[in-house]
Amino acid sequence: MQNLPLKLTKSLDIRKQQNAIRILSYKKNLIDFSSNDYLGFSNLKQVYFTAEKILTDFNLMKNGATGSRLLSGNHQLFAPAEDFIANFHSAESALIFNSGYDANVGFFSSVPQRGDIIFYDELVHASIRDGISMSRAKAYKFKHNDIPDLCGHIERSRNINNEPEIYIVTESVFSMDGDIPDLKTLAEFAEKQHCFLVVDEAHATGVFGQDGAGMVQELGVQDKIFARIITFGKALGCHGAVILGSTTLKEYLVNFARSFIYTTALPPHNVATILASYQYLKNKPELAEVNPEHVEGSEIKKLKQNIEFFKAEIVANKLQSFFTESNSAIQSCILPGNEMVKNTASKLEAEGYNVKPILSPTVPKGKERLRFCLHSFNSREEISGVLKVLVKLTN
Ligand SMILES: Cc1ncc(COP(=O)(O)O)c(C=O)c1O
Repeated sequence: MQNLPLKLTKSLDIRKQQNAIRILSYKKNLIDFSSNDYLGFSNLKQVYFTAEKILTDFNLMKNGATGSRLLSGNHQLFAPAEDFIANFHSAESALIFNSGYDANVGFFSSVPQRGDIIFYDELVHASIRDGISMSRAKAYKFKHNDIPDLCGHIERSRNINNEPEIYIVTESVFSMDGDIPDLKTLAEFAEKQHCFLVVDEAHATGVFGQDGAGMVQELGVQDKIFARIITFGKALGCHGAVILGSTTLKEYLVNFARSFIYTTALPPHNVATILASYQYLKNKPELAEVNPEHVEGSEIKKLKQNIEFFKAEIVANKLQSFFTESNSAIQSCILPGNEMVKNTASKLEAEGYNVKPILSPTVPKGKERLRFCLHSFNSREEISGVLKVLVKLTN
């Protein structure tokens, strides 16, 4: 086998020197404070069996999609799934992508045009940045959750260039800090300024809003938003994503989003799982028969209680100075330095807890952190337990 080119070997060496090398590992029997499976849906038998039933009903016992959706891959589950999702999210239309990464790359690389301007929150996800870097539009970041800063940028850009289309991009729950922007004000601001607001709801879906519909719907601002990105790999426990917007946006993406066009479609069983997860969230009557114990929204309720309990335990253990303020399922404990945060995560692991260290350069230097992901299925003992160990490790 040929050796890796020297430049790449050097990049790996630098990562190792920075104590930031990434490795693939498999951890079992640890208490989960790291997965995005906020509601435990990835293990829900009801979702699994409902998906199986959907496949049987549609006579879709197939292993793969066989092609792009524009060729042979647009199997008959896509239309009902997209209709269900659009309806669930009070959107005109929904277009399924193979992942949230693909959705963001497809959207930002194709929608903003040369001469347009994108203003994005400085902490948006890598998939948004990658999409933006493929766009011909000019892009500038604004300070995190800082509407006056954004406003200044927009005023300056309008003075230079008369009529650019302006896109504003944010997340409704930020993936590394778990904090939430003032979306209501932002949506009103975008509307007043005639800007196109794009919101990534990856970490709000399943957590906020009626039946977990997201933060945008919790605030009732869906009609002020040009596009929403919803991902299924987090609280929905499966895989894929959808872009919500107008039917003309959907038509545009089908024609121009390259990450939608030039890839094999999601297989039927994946789309069936997405649909089954949504049906479970919505708690359809036929699902109540499958799962008579299911109380509407019980997983979401348990998750919310766990978030409250975790925050109360932070205070009870006098750990406030380490944690960033968050009301979401993501709670970040800042422990500066890759070595420090990695060591602490290893010690927690030795005690049976899986908490991921987030290293620089994924987050800025000095902002390395333990990222606690909370779930509906975490017990109070587990939450108290992990924070008790953290107290010992930080003293
Ligand atoms: C905010 C945000 N958007 C998009 C993505 C990408 O989603 P997916 O994992 O489905 O590719 C992630 C995943 O980490 C995310 O946190």
